[in-house]
Amino acid sequence: MYNFKDKVIYQLYPKSFKDANNDGVGDIRGIIEKIPYLANLGIDMIWLNPMYKSPQKDNGYDISDYKSIDPIFGTMEDFEEMVEVARKYNIDFMLDMVFNHTSIEHEWFQKALSGDKKYQDYYIIRDAKSNGDKPTNWLSKFGGPAWEKFGNTDKYYLHLYDVTQADLNWRNPEVREELIDIVNFWLKKGVKGFRFDVLNVIGKDEVLIDSTGDSAQEKSLYTDKPVVHEYIKLLNNKSFGNDKNIITVGEMSSTNIENGILYTNPSREELSMIFSFHHLKVDYDNGEKWSKVPFDFEELKKLLNDWQEGMSNGDGWNALFWNNHDQPRSNSRFGDVKKYPYESATMLAQTLHLLRGTPYIYQGEEIGMTNPSFDNIDDYVDIETHNAYKELLEKSVDKDTALEYIKEKSRDNSRTPMQWDNTANAGFSKVKPWLKVANNYKEINVQRELDTGKIFNYYKKLIKLRKDYKVISEGTYRGIQLDNKYIYSYIREYEGQKLLVLNNFYGENAKIDLSKENLDFNNYSVLIGNYENSNISSVIELKPYETIAILLK
Ligand code: GLC
Repeated sequence: MYNFKDKVIYQLYPKSFKDANNDGVGDIRGIIEKIPYLANLGIDMIWLNPMYKSPQKDNGYDISDYKSIDPIFGTMEDFEEMVEVARKYNIDFMLDMVFNHTSIEHEWFQKALSGDKKYQDYYIIRDAKSNGDKPTNWLSKFGGPAWEKFGNTDKYYLHLYDVTQADLNWRNPEVREELIDIVNFWLKKGVKGFRFDVLNVIGKDEVLIDSTGDSAQEKSLYTDKPVVHEYIKLLNNKSFGNDKNIITVGEMSSTNIENGILYTNPSREELSMIFSFHHLKVDYDNGEKWSKVPFDFEELKKLLNDWQEGMSNGDGWNALFWNNHDQPRSNSRFGDVKKYPYESATMLAQTLHLLRGTPYIYQGEEIGMTNPSFDNIDDYVDIETHNAYKELLEKSVDKDTALEYIKEKSRDNSRTPMQWDNTANAGFSKVKPWLKVANNYKEINVQRELDTGKIFNYYKKLIKLRKDYKVISEGTYRGIQLDNKYIYSYIREYEGQKLLVLNNFYGENAKIDLSKENLDFNNYSVLIGNYENSNISSVIELKPYETIAILLK
């Protein structure tokens, strides 16, 4: 099998990467222009968020035609050229497959609406309850009920996400064949990877029932159903699984380790790896995302450790990430972007890149981009953000507090245009971008970073180390001293070589006593660290946000 264990994947958000035709929206020609930049970083593959034809209600996750490129991004010829150019730099592409739902503007949904029975069976359409209520009491993940009137009939269609994103009926074999065909279509275009959107919610029962109203119980009614594994195996066997060079990753919403193993253990013929999100909920207030509380470090460590150990025990594989287009920037979240921008960005990077799994870098992370902290709700574009703001006000949260929560958690935090230089619009576009640029672009931008910064080069080094050291790409994992209040430490091991990784998550000095760990500090070398001249012995004091990786015999 193709070795994805020493690969690093770069997530590129096309709308915000580089606008070559100056219409305010990033595009494929912009990506082509910047491929040498990504090659310099050393990444192996680019995951592109959806660029298919779409009304863009949910930034492309509402697809109206899976086999075409939305004109805002360019043409199919541009796409093919991009694949070809990147190949020259040994970079491949991973496409985003949004198979839980289509846009209601998709031809299938439109035909269903016009009365075509074949296409009505492509979606999850149900009668109202006898008292006229919606088929179940389920809530949409973007707020409000998960059911919407189906045209002018008495029926409803299910939408776990936005009302314009109708859930597909995977129980229907014709739907499965259509989706398999889409994967094969893109494989023929030379695509080498697939990221499957919210894949673990595709398996719905025939008879859908009310939840108790508890959100976890409700999710269990449609998440990680055993049949999902069958669907994925089918997809694998009839499309990407026929080429062992393909890398796949499933986005798994609220999943668990047990299923994580089933999804990724190679003998199951499902996926290469999965994204799970528990570690990015440690700054939720009692499970509530729209809140502002300090992150729970012990919980973060416990989750990272459990997933590392658990997946490893079951021969599963994790996708490693702090950032993506749905998450606030991790350095704003877990670091100190004012006082320790370099130290906290590199500490977070190192913590992640030296774990067991495949690391993902989200655009701008490699130069330390931060949350933009917009002061006006109208500066935010995201549909989930606006729904949440409305709901917060309805729950009598005052406007200022609601905006504080939005500033912390909005998905737009990571979607602001890439900061290329200190010219107008951060060099992203010559015209006003679709989403405002963060106003720190004069201090944080690619040009300045490459001239005088240290974060980009640190990432470069981490990527290179994964290729040079099997202890990083293949080694075992063991968390140590997990009760330390400030430091997350672990040991990777491979054929007698040990790599000790220590990460201080706080802006103050912190100590760790390793004398009971049976480690020999007489023979060590520092592989990488974000401070100079660290003093290594069995008791180590780390400086603010210090990270250090030590090779031991
Ligand atoms: C995934 C995507 C997110 C999208 C949602 C619905 O979570 O990452 O951006 O809104 O699925 O497709």
